[in-house]
Amino acid sequence: MKNIILIGFMACGKSTLGKKLANKLNFEFIDTDQEIEKNENCSVAEIFEKFGENHFRELEKKLIVSLQDKQNCIISTGGGLPCFNENMMLLNQVGTTFYVKLNPIELSKRILNAKTIRPLAKGKSKDEVYTFVKELLAKREDFYAQAKFTLSGKEQNINFIESILF
Ligand code: S3P
Repeated sequence: MKNIILIGFMACGKSTLGKKLANKLNFEFIDTDQEIEKNENCSVAEIFEKFGENHFRELEKKLIVSLQDKQNCIISTGGGLPCFNENMMLLNQVGTTFYVKLNPIELSKRILNAKTIRPLAKGKSKDEVYTFVKELLAKREDFYAQAKFTLSGKEQNINFIESILF
């Protein structure tokens, strides 16, 4: 079977959902941020700091191109990946895309409570994070909406995804 690809804003829960799904279906799990960190031997935060966002976006593009021949994988993408370099078109060729949709209130709470450092939200206050999320999500929503399926609220579970696919 072709791959299953989870997209959505940072901290929406793509990786958690993806890992569960990979376990259940016995598929390989690929997280694009982790893959880039492994390849570059450097954290995402460090890549942003040392080489800038554009360089990171190039690495994301290269990675997605390299995954084109994969099968039976669950791919969880970085939040910005679908929104650059026509990646969304490519993602829709590489697998069945699911947009894990949360609202700005939920997303900002999750970003503020997360252990992972998100370079784009770093050093911001609670209010600033909310405004940042709201504005960036508005810009990205058109890209995310190109996913084959959108999962909101109760649909964000592996049984629902399975019921769509099989
Ligand atoms: C980013 C999201 C992050 C990571 C990087 C940039 C973004 O991934 O790729 O910090 O531009 O939204 P997560 O969605 O896993 O947080």
